[in-house]
Formats: sequence, C-alpha cells, structure tokens
Amino acid sequence: MTVALSIEQLEAAYEPGLPIVRGASLAVQPGEIVAILGPNGAGKSTLVKAVAGLVPVTAGRVLLHGQDITRVPAHRLVFEGLAFVPQTENVFANLTIAENLELAAAILKADRRERLAPVYTMFPDLERQRTLLAGRLSGGQRQMLAVARALIAQPRVLMLDEPSAGLSPKLVGQVLEQLKRVRDHGVTVVLVEQNVKAALAVADRAAVLVEGRERIVGSAAELRGDARIAELYLGRHVAAGVA
Ligand SMILES: Nc1ncnc2c1ncn2[C@@H]1O[C@H](COP(=O)(O)OP(=O)(O)OP(=O)(O)O)[C@@H](O)[C@H]1O
Ligand SMILES: [Mg+2]
Repeated sequence: MTVALSIEQLEAAYEPGLPIVRGASLAVQPGEIVAILGPNGAGKSTLVKAVAGLVPVTAGRVLLHGQDITRVPAHRLVFEGLAFVPQTENVFANLTIAENLELAAAILKADRRERLAPVYTMFPDLERQRTLLAGRLSGGQRQMLAVARALIAQPRVLMLDEPSAGLSPKLVGQVLEQLKRVRDHGVTVVLVEQNVKAALAVADRAAVLVEGRERIVGSAAELRGDARIAELYLGRHVAAGVA
C-alpha cells in the first residue's frame, strides 16, 4: 500500500538560512492516526505548516499517496486531498455553523448538499445546532466545526495543529475521540498535540520532534511507557502523569 503522507528530510525556514524544521522525516500509513509531539518551539507547527504549503520548504520533499506535493500552495492542496486545520482562526465566528460549512463547499465549487450531508452524519450535534453562530460555540464544539469544515473538502489526509489547545481536560478527550470517528470514515489523521497522554490514547503511532527533527518514533503503546518522552520535555515532576 502506498504511504498516505511521506515527509522526507524536510527543511523549512521563515528566513533564508535559518531552518526551523531541519531534516524531519515521517511516513504515515493510510488509515493511521499519527501524533506529532515535542517541546514548545520544537518546530511542530512549522512542520505541519510547511507540509500544508504555508511555510517555505528549503529542502526535502512531501509525498501525498505517492504524489509529490512539495511547494504546492495551500489553496491547491485541498484539491489534492490534504486538508489542514490551523490552531487558531479556523472558523468564522460571525457565521453560523451551516454558513461555515456552506462557505467551505462554495470555495471548493462543490455541491453544497452533497458535501454537507456526510459531515452532518458524522457530527449530528453540528446539524442540530446549525443555525448557531460559530462564535457562540464552546471551545470543543468550535474545534469540531473546524474539523467538519476541513472534511467538506473530502480529504484523504487531515492534518491538525493542536486541536485540543485551550480546552478543558474532559473536552480534550472528546475532541480527540472524534478524530477516531474521522479515521473510521477512511481519513488518515496527523495531529500536533501538546497533551501527550490524550494524544497517545487516540493515536496509533507518534513522533517526538526535537529541534526540527524526529527524535523518537514508535507505536503509541511503546511511547506510553517510554521514559525518554517525559524527560525530553515535560520535566521529571510531571513525568509520572504521562504513562
Ligand atoms: N512566523 C514566524 N517567523 C519566524 N519564526 C517563527 C515563526 N513562527 C515560529 N517561529 C519560530 O520557529 C520555532 C518553532 O516554532 P513552532 O511554532 O514551529 O514550534 P512548536 O513546536 O509548534 O511550538 P509550540 O508547542 O509552542 O506550539 C520557534 O523558535 C519560533 O520562534
Ligand atoms: Mg505549535
């Protein structure tokens, strides 16, 4: 089977000569949920933004189901099958749930009804609340709307930057559990997460990024018991809470 997303020796920089992502590699298999973990400033957001065409790639390449998508601009990647949910500003607060989803369909020049129906099936809560303004949703609901918006493009790979940021511990679990449902609908999921425990509870595999490179890659089960993760960036005082 072709690798769903292959990141190969990727280098990305905001300024020439100052790479933030420094030769990162990761192979994501179809149907997997893969978490990208790592300390603050490790380059996790920069890595997914570079893959999403939002930060210049200076070396290496990215393949999506075998097709080279390196440097394909962000607005074209949705048509290639890759959707990205940024950490912030991922919904329009002054539009309703339905309008957010309809706008996503309109941007794709796709049939509104055809695209919204499966997304509402996956997230019945959103359908029930479709006339509510996105700005009035709870943090967790808002994240689900952001995911739903991305799914309007019917991507093969969905990439998210910290979908649980700012959520209460209970909601973190709920949002991440929904990603399993997304995966069960045939979408490969790659997520950046700060919350190691919650991420390893839903992910199949994880990569720990340190200084722009993957330092540890393994199954979630392996990493749950890996003391190096706690030492790498959580500090020993919270290490006990990781496993
Ligand atoms: N727009 C930008 N321009 C220049 N440098 C940036 C920019 N965004 C991030 N950086 C730098 O890139 C480095 C990595 O940042 P990045 O946001 O990728 O880390 P991260 O692993 O996502 O961290 P966090 O866990 O805090 O979200 C940091 O040193 C940061 O200062
Ligand atoms: Mg980040």
